This record gives sequence, C-alpha cells and structure tokens, in this order.
Amino acid sequence: MTGGAGFIGSAVIRHLIENTDYRVVNFDKLTYAGNLESLASVAESPRYHFERGDICDQREVKNAFIEFKPDAIMHLAAESHVDRSIDDPGQFIHTNVVGTEVLLENARRYWRELDGKTAFRFHHVSTDEVYGSLGAAGKFDENSPYRPNSPYSASKAGADHLVRAWHETYGLPVVVTNCSNNYGPYQFPEKLIPLMILNALEGKSLPVYGRGEQVRDWLYVEDHARALVLVMEQGRDGETYNIGADNEHRNVDLVRTLCRMLDERVDIHPEGVERFEDLIEFVADRPGHDQRYAIDSGKLQREFGWEPEESFESGLARTIDWYLHNRDWCDHVLDGSYQRQRLGLAEGEQA
Ligand code: NAD
Ligand code: TYD
Repeated sequence: MTGGAGFIGSAVIRHLIENTDYRVVNFDKLTYAGNLESLASVAESPRYHFERGDICDQREVKNAFIEFKPDAIMHLAAESHVDRSIDDPGQFIHTNVVGTEVLLENARRYWRELDGKTAFRFHHVSTDEVYGSLGAAGKFDENSPYRPNSPYSASKAGADHLVRAWHETYGLPVVVTNCSNNYGPYQFPEKLIPLMILNALEGKSLPVYGRGEQVRDWLYVEDHARALVLVMEQGRDGETYNIGADNEHRNVDLVRTLCRMLDERVDIHPEGVERFEDLIEFVADRPGHDQRYAIDSGKLQREFGWEPEESFESGLARTIDWYLHNRDWCDHVLDGSYQRQRLGLAEGEQA
C-alpha cells in the first residue's frame, strides 16, 4: 500500500491487520500528512511492515517491488488537501500525477515478469471531486464526465486517466475507486470536521467558508476501508466503483451540529465560550469552491452487497468521542512532535 500513514490508508491497514490474514507493506514518504502514531495498534504485528519511500522516486519504487513482490498495490499516497493545492499546485502535480506514473510503470514491469498465473492488480484510490460540482439535484455515478475544478481534483483526474491508459494500452490489471468526503478518527486537523472539533476545544474561531451553503456527502472512514478491501479483492478488471454513504449536509448545518454535540459532551467550555456555535465565523470563500458533491454507490452495493454500517449521527458521535479521548494523538499533531520519526529526532527532542 502507498500512503498508509495517512488518514484513510491507516484505517485500511488497521482493518486489514485486525480482520484479515493479509501481510501489508506500508510504503509512505511521511509528509506532514503521514503519522505513524495512527498505526500504533498494529505496528508490532508480524504481518505489518513500514517502508519509508517516495512514490516519485524511481529507484525506491523499483527496489520496493523487487523486495516485497506484492500481490496487489493499493495506491492511496497523494497530496490531499484542496486549500494547499490552491496555495502550491506544483507539489500536487508532482506527487499525484508524476508519482502515479512512476508507480504504474514499475507495476507494469513487475507484472510483465510474473508467470501469468499469479494474480496481480493495481487499485487506484481517487475522489469524487474529479467529476466537478453538482447543482441542486443529481448524483455522480461511474459514467459522470470528468470536470475537475481545483488543482487537487485536476491532479487526481490526471492520475485516474493514467491508470485507465495503462489498462487500455498495456493491459495492466487495474481497479479504480472514487469516493466522497471521508471523516472519522485520525484525520489531520486541516480538514473540516477535525479542524472544527479541535478549534472549538481550544476556544478558537470556526471558519466557515462563504455562507457555508456548499454540500458535501460524508462517508465514515471505516466504511470506506471495508469497501476498498472488497474492491481490491473482487472488483472487475478495468472497472471504476464510486463509494459514498448518502449523507449530504450543508457545511454550516454540519458545523452547527458538531457544536451542539460538543456542548453536550464537554463539561467545562473554554473561557468566555458559552456555546460552541458562538465561535462560528463566516470567512472569505474558497476560490473555485465546488457547490455540491453527491455519490451514487449503487454499483458497489449491487455487485458486493456493501452497505455503510455507520449512520451520520453515529459516525459523527464516534468521531467526536475519539478526538475527546485521544488527546495525546491530537496534542502531538498540534505541537508537531508526531513528525519526530520523519525528522530523525530522538524521544524528547523538539520537532
Ligand atoms: P492524507 O493526506 O491523510 O495521507 C496521504 C498519505 O500519503 C500520507 O501518509 C503521506 O505521507 C503520503 N504521501 C504523500 N506523498 C507521498 C509520496 N510522494 N510518496 C509516498 N507517500 C506519500 O490523505 P487521505 O485523506 O488519507 O487520502 C488518501 C487517498 O484518498 C488520497 O489519494 C486522496 O486523494 C483520496 N481521497 C481522500 C478523501 C478524503 O476525504 N480524505 C476523499 C476522496 C479521496
Ligand atoms: P475539506 O475538509 O477541505 O474537504 P474538500 O474540500 O475536499 O471537500 O472541506 C469540506 C468543506 O468544508 C468544503 O466545502 C470547504 C469547507 N471548509 C470550511 O468551510 N472551512 C474550513 O476551514 C475548511 C477546512 C473547509
């Protein structure tokens, strides 16, 4: 797997180690988004191995194929945050497009040398944002046209097209999944839900872009992880599967719900804060902000019987409770010490 130290990758690895017999190699560069503390519960498993490496580095990728001889690649490594892609698009093109090409080329050479009896597949994990923005009605399905609007979604669309081309041109066995916004434990607090939770607990303002009327379709990360493993195992060669859980909410409604749920759970509010909702601040809108995403995951449900296990209410409650009860993980992210391993620092040394 690539990107296994990230939010979704770490959920997939925990799921694979805890619920299956697979051996997992986590090939991850440990950018700011990579956090090995998210894998503490499985780090000692003999079926788990961490290999620090960069998907853009031809030599490192080639050596990993030679050393680990994978039966499948689950490719999750990416630059993933839209706001960062607006500030610095080049890094997104490099990691998401060039990195995917380096992986595909190495996968192709490796697969060509297999005896033909050994099953191999390349599972590319992508986003519904490649389809662009919806109006008030309709949903994205696997045949929706590609209309990416942000540097992030354009770079993911580029990667999706490369995967398709390697399948059509070279016959590389591939499956692609496009999912909606994920939420849940271990998400880096630059994304909406964890940012709002941690800001609220610190008594900081809760910045809602524009009027908060954009709609996102929320998918609990562990439901996503189960779907990814099903597609990796059973997805038909060359097919795309959309993954979503029918949980559309306007940003402002979501943030208000989060505030109310936090009010119920937190005994002592930060000084000067009576209700968390009072911290909401409407700020300048994101440029090119997509209005609405919604996913039709009928194909996934019909072919594999997948259903989300978490309702939005239960998933949000689990997420909030996780952030409230895992203060060490949060503090280490907020003070930067989660990056100790990446920076080669000893225990106690400041990041
Ligand atoms: P994340 O930002 O939390 O994690 C990304 C991981 O990739 C990190 O561990 C990072 O260290 C690693 N990485 C980055 N560049 C690398 C490189 N050059 N070489 C090796 N590793 C590298 O991302 P996430 O939210 O877990 O998303 C995982 C995948 O799912 C991404 O491809 C993303 O586009 C896609 N996706 C995410 C969401 C979402 O809501 N989070 C929704 C749809 C699709
Ligand atoms: P985000 O978590 O960045 O995911 P994405 O851009 O991939 O959908 O944002 C989710 C929604 O929340 C999006 O419409 C932008 C909005 N948003 C805010 O209003 N304020 C914030 O501080 C952030 C990070 C996002």
